[in-house]
Amino acid sequence: MRSCFDEELNRERHGSVKFDFREKFGKPADVIPLWVADMDFRSPPCVLEALKEHADFGIFGYTRAQDSYLDALTNWFRTRFGWDAQGDWTYTIPGVMFGITAAIRALSGEGDAILIQEPVYPPFPEVIQSNRRKLVVNEMKTDETGRYMIDFEAFERQLVEENVKIFLLCSPHNPVARIWSPDELRLLGTLCLKHGVKLISDEIHADFSLFGNRQTLFPTLGPEFEENCILCTAPSKTFNLMGLQSANIWIPNPTWRKEVIRECLCFEWFGVSSTAYAATTAAYRSGAAWLEELKSYLEGNIRFVTERLEQMRAPIRVTPHEGTYLMWLNCREMGLNDDELDAFFSNEARLWFHRGTAFGLGGNGHMRMNIGSPRCVLERAMDQLEGALAKRRVRDTRSQ
Ligand SMILES: Cc1ncc(COP(=O)(O)O)c(C=O)c1O
Repeated sequence: MRSCFDEELNRERHGSVKFDFREKFGKPADVIPLWVADMDFRSPPCVLEALKEHADFGIFGYTRAQDSYLDALTNWFRTRFGWDAQGDWTYTIPGVMFGITAAIRALSGEGDAILIQEPVYPPFPEVIQSNRRKLVVNEMKTDETGRYMIDFEAFERQLVEENVKIFLLCSPHNPVARIWSPDELRLLGTLCLKHGVKLISDEIHADFSLFGNRQTLFPTLGPEFEENCILCTAPSKTFNLMGLQSANIWIPNPTWRKEVIRECLCFEWFGVSSTAYAATTAAYRSGAAWLEELKSYLEGNIRFVTERLEQMRAPIRVTPHEGTYLMWLNCREMGLNDDELDAFFSNEARLWFHRGTAFGLGGNGHMRMNIGSPRCVLERAMDQLEGALAKRRVRDTRSQ
């Protein structure tokens, strides 16, 4: 049966960074863009209706978070994650990275050490360094299946030796597609408590736990973990609303909350637009059924890409996938350096994937592929990849 996600929409000339900036980013004009984490699907009908109603009224004045918004938001996290958060623990922000930056600025000083786990979403190290904090990197390891694991011994050693003040967790983890287990999260949280390290948990991908995996929201581990944690969430990935710029920072600890909000107020930032509230309230109130359909479509996409790569005998290993709509592809068997790998995908396969080295330590030899597109687009992408690999094999055979 055809799904609403099968419809291929022409996103060209709508100002999309994914589609309209190919040449500006140095890519051929005809590459299929499967890089930045936004999906090629329309937002849920409940969101589109709320936005139409909002536009029909025609006044876009100043606003603040209303109870209807806070109720929809807290209810989402209560029913889906079992987290009984209070509406006044949160502050609305234009993006998760804004919130992480505000928390770093409010709760640490220049020169303080902040730890991240690489490979990871590139703005993590960027905001730490651009705010003049010391970057400490804990590199993740893989097991024999290619699944990423935390090196807890090194993690604790680094917390102590580097006198780390903040640990910035990515959960689910972009790009390695892990859903951290409650035991892993509890151990991370316990080590942070033991060594007086504040924990910021970026859970922007929380709604994309796939294949029966269950996302544990960090603060649900228990009161002591909740009190030591700042959580960042957003409806943007979940309902494909990135351009509306709406996210939440949750700060259960009242002292830290005051400090983080004070930092936001340094920019006279009082919250998101009335348009963002209209869309977000509708999404959190009525978007659950749409999300469930989307998640099974994405699982189908991940299975499809994995099977096609196997069938074409691509020298590419799919990292075991637990969550997010971003696949992490290990291409080391291709025997190319990172510039050659990037050039192969862009110029030969005509595919725009995100190069692994952008994600820091351990990213070499990898590419990140966004599978948030209609299946027919992924079919074309896999056909192009198969063709490019076949040509390469012929070339390699001739030159031997
Ligand atoms: C882990 C992670 N955090 C933050 C962001 C960006 O969030 P925002 O646009 O809300 O700043 C992304 C976007 O891909 C992400 O993957």
